[in-house]
Amino acid sequence: MSRKTTAEWLQEHHSQSSRNLPQKVGRKRKFARTLAVSSGKGGVGKTSVAIKTAKILVERGEKVLLIDCDYNLSNTAVKLGFPIGNNFYELLSDKKSFQEAIHEDGNFHLLSACNGNMDLFDEECSLEGVVFDIISSHIEDYDTIILDCPAGLTKEVCNLNAYCDDRFIVVTPDKSSITDSYSLVKVLTNRFGIRNHKLIFNKVSGSKQLEKLTRTFLETAQLYLDCRLQVLGAIPFFKENVDRFDRELLKIADSKIHKSFHKVIDKYTEEDIGDSTVFSSYLSKESMNLVGREHEVPSL
Ligand SMILES: Nc1ncnc2c1ncn2[C@@H]1O[C@H](COP(=O)(O)OP(=O)(O)OP(=O)(O)O)[C@@H](O)[C@H]1O
Ligand SMILES: [Mg+2]
Repeated sequence: MSRKTTAEWLQEHHSQSSRNLPQKVGRKRKFARTLAVSSGKGGVGKTSVAIKTAKILVERGEKVLLIDCDYNLSNTAVKLGFPIGNNFYELLSDKKSFQEAIHEDGNFHLLSACNGNMDLFDEECSLEGVVFDIISSHIEDYDTIILDCPAGLTKEVCNLNAYCDDRFIVVTPDKSSITDSYSLVKVLTNRFGIRNHKLIFNKVSGSKQLEKLTRTFLETAQLYLDCRLQVLGAIPFFKENVDRFDRELLKIADSKIHKSFHKVIDKYTEEDIGDSTVFSSYLSKESMNLVGREHEVPSL
């Protein structure tokens, strides 16, 4: 795989978005929109949000690629009941083609990562470089490409977020999640110049907690950050055992979890402006408005 700098990849992505190529048959978009799911803190529900978002978009007629960027502690295949393998490593070392490395379930495609493989990347070959390479090679094959990012506030996580058209930041009501996700938004805004973030509140126990969480997060951000934060919605805390949550997540049932996710995706796609305008809209004055305008508290 070729090695390019982040800036080179971003420029290439720009020029691809503006090219006027014919749309592939059966596809909703000429070029995939790219979406990073992050949080700062671990265990808050990034993988669950990434999987459910992918599944709902497929249900709505899209072709979606989910890339598990938690290259060392991959969970997506386990949660989805796909066999656990070493596909990411095998793709990197040219032992498998992209088609051989992905799991397919209709229009849902998954590139799972590895478990406990410490030696995948070095100074020459970074996670971001590989992921940008994959996106760039398959941008015309999908409607949406979702990155399930690792926990932490690393250069890798920031670069993956900076590259994507959209970012879902998953926040849970505990103080450490609020602090860590705020730090992620702050670094992305101040150091990477990203002024547009979408928040999903997960594991929320009631409307009072949700109101407090929304107010705490948005008011602090409004005081200190010059960015646009949009709350896409909230997912209730599923109090039964965790395995049951994982099973419930995959059902296309009339459950509260399923309905909440649909509301989140409705809000996300409401603003869907199509691939040709993603970058200009992203940089427009309206999209740079301060967080204060988005103070409405979502319902549970
Ligand atoms: N709304 C919810 N209610 C109850 N349990 C949930 C909810 N969302 C996620 N979980 C559970 O929380 C755990 C962590 O979820 P998940 O793996 O999606 O988080 P993550 O942020 O991807 O974790 P990591 O940082 O380790 O990658 C899982 O066991 C999952 O089933
Ligand atoms: Mg995860």
